[in-house]
Amino acid sequence: MALCQIHVPFRSSSRQKIARFSNTKLLRINCGYSSFEVRDVSYQPPGTQLKLLNSVSFSLPDKSLGLIFGQSGSGKTTLLQLLAGINKPTSGSIYTQKFWNDGNPSQPPEPLVPERVGIVFQFPERYFVADSVLDEVTFGWPRQKDSYQLRENLALGLQRAINWVGLSGLPLDKNPHSLSGGYKRRLALAIQLVQIPDLLILDEPLAGLDWKARADVVKLLMNLKKELTVLVVSHDLREFTSLVDRSWRMEMGGYLREELLPF
Ligand SMILES: Nc1ncnc2c1ncn2[C@@H]1O[C@H](COP(=O)(O)OP(=O)(O)OP(=O)(O)O)[C@@H](O)[C@H]1O
Ligand SMILES: [Mg+2]
Repeated sequence: MALCQIHVPFRSSSRQKIARFSNTKLLRINCGYSSFEVRDVSYQPPGTQLKLLNSVSFSLPDKSLGLIFGQSGSGKTTLLQLLAGINKPTSGSIYTQKFWNDGNPSQPPEPLVPERVGIVFQFPERYFVADSVLDEVTFGWPRQKDSYQLRENLALGLQRAINWVGLSGLPLDKNPHSLSGGYKRRLALAIQLVQIPDLLILDEPLAGLDWKARADVVKLLMNLKKELTVLVVSHDLREFTSLVDRSWRMEMGGYLREELLPF
């Protein structure tokens, strides 16, 4: 992580030569970093005896990409649903933590707010509800007269998000269901990027796409992780190898352990 350096004025002695920065001294400041943390999270759906997640712990530094893989039915989507606030953990905590560069916490932990998490579900196009791109991306926006300012901010965010995912030339009256597979994924992603999330989650983002669209999505995520913290669940390990910073295997029964990708 970057080490900040600033020059601060100090009282120079009369014997010191006058030179560039002669009346300043270099002060090194520990800028620090933040990290998304999951600690001892377990989950048992209400009314069942089944424990789907068992003491799951991991952390992901900001502006990096984490990948969770593992057998079908092991609990990956269940975990994502907890991170997005769709369900609540039975025990454990999910929070963000700021650190000094030496690894010591610089502030008390802050709970991860569900509104600040963006989630793109598996096959997100199945959940498209509108018959134009414009209606799809503005679905759920406030409509009241006094929310004009909020809508204006959302519109600015939408413009940025559309550019970010490479959809700037897309006609807004087009039916989202008529888009190619790759464009549908980009649209679903843009909707989640209108308000920049603290954590962006994607469940199987390459599933059902052809090779070209898969490569486009991987390239897009490569750029997004420069700005955002991204957590992906995928079976497509080979395609993610070049951009993964940390990876974990979910074992059957909801046990997560760190594991490097095999490629
Ligand atoms: N509400 C629930 N009640 C009981 N069992 C559930 C509930 N929700 C999910 N399960 C079970 O939990 C297990 C984990 O499901 P989950 O969808 O998280 O797996 P996954 O790792 O995402 O699988 P896949 O790779 O197929 O997407 C499965 O056996 C599923 O049937
Ligand atoms: Mg799943």
